[in-house]
Amino acid sequence: MSDFDFRAYLKERQALVNEQLETILGSLENQRELTRAMGHSLMAGGKRLRPILCLAACEACGKTPAYAMPAACAMEMVHTYSLIHDDLPAMDDDDLRRGIPTCHKAFSEATAILAGDGLLTHAFQVLTRPGKLFKRLPGPAVLLELAAILSEAAGVNGMIEGQMLDMLSQDKDATALPSSLERLEKIHTLKTGMMIRASVLSGAVSADADPAMQERLGVYADKLGLAFQVKDDILDVEGDPAVMGKPAGSDEANHKMTYPALMGLESSKRYAEDLVSEAVEALTYFDEKALPLRAIAEYILQRRR
Ligand code: IPE
Ligand code: IPE
Ligand code: MG
Ligand code: MG
Ligand code: MG
Repeated sequence: MSDFDFRAYLKERQALVNEQLETILGSLENQRELTRAMGHSLMAGGKRLRPILCLAACEACGKTPAYAMPAACAMEMVHTYSLIHDDLPAMDDDDLRRGIPTCHKAFSEATAILAGDGLLTHAFQVLTRPGKLFKRLPGPAVLLELAAILSEAAGVNGMIEGQMLDMLSQDKDATALPSSLERLEKIHTLKTGMMIRASVLSGAVSADADPAMQERLGVYADKLGLAFQVKDDILDVEGDPAVMGKPAGSDEANHKMTYPALMGLESSKRYAEDLVSEAVEALTYFDEKALPLRAIAEYILQRRR
């Protein structure tokens, strides 16, 4: 990876995404308390992994990343909504997110629910009626396809079902079931993997990528998405809350079924490494324009937040 400066790349891309998200928030004038609550969580300094993957996939497929910005922002808005709701007392009941109080702590529980609803709904407005928000836009048929990809990944056969299964896995005996690993892989694939896959694929679709490229990026994203949640589980055990910006130990407190709980910490780390190697392997089809995608995969293993 020699002369590719990933830290600088990440910083630059985060700034680009943040600027575009500010523009989107700035276009919402009339609902002060609601937009404040949405902005509280959206602009709190997430890693922006999903939008950055989206831009990087677009680039790997040979198009300027600006075309992927609508999809990138919509992904981050839906992801942020999922975090707001994930932290609610009825769900994981966490007080800290992205280094600041969770939305329901900073505002009220009802406002946090509505802020999540607002981000979710507005993501689709941004994709289907982008107006003058973006410098470049894919054609209308592509925008419609992007909305379909996002609603599928975030919806009842994707992230929401994953969150449901995650919640149902919370009973204390779940880890003792013989089919636990299969169940866990399903939960992780749905609750986290689908949104990561959708981020990568929407970048490719924004670039009008051919089916062969899309297929290989799909393999990359599936491996990466699972690795990402395995690492998230590992961080929940041994991460530093001050660095992560969210609490550690939440999974154990909630009796969650996780990779460390099921296969132990060391095996979980090896599993995440194997998945990342497989993700990187799927990129051999691409030229040096896929360097950022490779670097992101390695970052996922090393990340401390
Ligand atoms: C956290 O996602 C929720 C999971 C799906 C594991 P991130 O680790 O990407 O959180 P942010 O966006 O950087 O805050
Ligand atoms: C959440 O998984 C996945 C979502 C769909 C939000 P977690 O509950 O493990 O995410 P964190 O650890 O709170 O970020
Ligand atoms: Mg959760
Ligand atoms: Mg959580
Ligand atoms: Mg977690």
